Amino acid sequence: MTSLEDVRTAAREKLKGICAVYPVCDGAAERICQRENYGKAIGLGGAGLGGSFRANVEALANLKLHTRVVGDPFDPNLSFDFFGLQLSMPILGASTSGMSSYNNAITELDFCRATLAGCRQAGTLSFRGDTWFYEEEDHFALTSIAEEAGRGVAIFKPRDQQTLFRLIARAEELGCPAVGVDLDGHGSTNFARAGKQVYRKSASDIAELVHSTKLPFIAKGLMHPGDAVVCADAGVAAVVVSNHGGRVLDSTPGTAEVLPGIVEAVGQRVLVLADGGIRNGYDVLKMLALGAKAVLVGRDLIRAGIGGGALGVQLQMEHYRTTLRQALLMTGCSDLASVGRHVLA
Ligand SMILES: Cc1cc2nc3c(=O)[nH]c(=O)nc-3n(C[C@H](O)[C@H](O)[C@H](O)COP(=O)(O)O)c2cc1C
Repeated sequence: MTSLEDVRTAAREKLKGICAVYPVCDGAAERICQRENYGKAIGLGGAGLGGSFRANVEALANLKLHTRVVGDPFDPNLSFDFFGLQLSMPILGASTSGMSSYNNAITELDFCRATLAGCRQAGTLSFRGDTWFYEEEDHFALTSIAEEAGRGVAIFKPRDQQTLFRLIARAEELGCPAVGVDLDGHGSTNFARAGKQVYRKSASDIAELVHSTKLPFIAKGLMHPGDAVVCADAGVAAVVVSNHGGRVLDSTPGTAEVLPGIVEAVGQRVLVLADGGIRNGYDVLKMLALGAKAVLVGRDLIRAGIGGGALGVQLQMEHYRTTLRQALLMTGCSDLASVGRHVLA
C-alpha cells in the first residue's frame, strides 16, 4: 500500500455497508452512513437526518478563497506550537472511538495505535476518544498513549467527577501535553444505547476538573459563545468548537458558522480549535481564517486508520499538509500568523 488512494480502496472494502468512502464525505441523505435508520446505532453518520453533519461541510464549501499570486517568493511555514509541542502543521487527529464496532475491521487498540503513530510520523499529534466499552482499568486511549510515551491527548467522556479525576491523573502521569472532556458527549447515543451514564457538566464541575490537573485542560464540543465564556471563566486552556461531527444534535449550524462568534468571545483568553467537515488543507485554511488556531480531523482519519493503519493515517495527514501548504502559497500567506479574514473572498 503506497498511496492514499490504495488506503481508501482498502477502507471501502473493510467498511462495506457502513461507509462507502465516497469522493466527498458530506453526510448527504443518500449516503449509506446517513439513511435514517430508526433506532439502529449511528455508525459513521450524523444524528437524525444528518443536518448538522451536512451543515459542517456546506458551511466550509460556502466560503471562498482569494488567490494572491504577486509578491516576493516564499515557502510557507506551517509549524504550530501546541502547548509546547512543536508540530509540523496546525492539523491534529480528532478524538474518535468505537472503531472496533464496524465489521470487526480493526481492533480498538490497533485503531488507537494507528492514529497516534500515523500522526506522529507526519510530525503532528492525535487526540484519543472514549466510549461506553472503555473501562477505567482497561482504557484503550490511555493504553495506546502510554505506548507512545505520552504523545497523545486523551479526551474523556463526561463521566462522573470521581472517575474523571482518576482518568485525568493517569493522563498526567503519562506525560500527555493536554487533557480534556467532550462536554457535548453527554448526548452520546452510544452511551445511551449501552445504558451507561454520562453527565451534563456545570461551571463548577468544569472548574474542579481544570484544577485537578497541571495539564492544560480542553473543553471539546462547544457551539455557543455563552458556553465558551463559562468554560474560559472556569479556567480551561482551550476550547474545541465542534458539534461532534453532527452526531449529538440534528439541525445545528455548521461549526464554521459559529466559530467567529466564539473566537470573538474567548479568543484572547484561550486557544480556540475547531473541527467538523474538514476534508483538506483548503478547508483548514478557511477555519484558520475564521480565527481557529488549529483544527481536528475525524472521519478522514477513521477511514485512513481502518484502511491502512499508521501508514494510512500518515498519508492522510501528509495530504492535509500538502494541500494546506498549497492553500497558504496561493493566498499569499507565508505562515499561520499571516492568515486572517482577508484570505476569504
Ligand atoms: C465514529 C465517530 C466516533 C467519534 N468518537 C468520538 C469520541 O469518542 N470522543 C469525541 O470527543 N469525539 C468523537 N467523535 C467526534 C470527533 O472528535 C470530531 O468532532 C468529528 O469527527 C469531526 O467531524 P468530521 O468527522 O466531519 O471531521 C467521533 C466522531 C465519529 C465520526
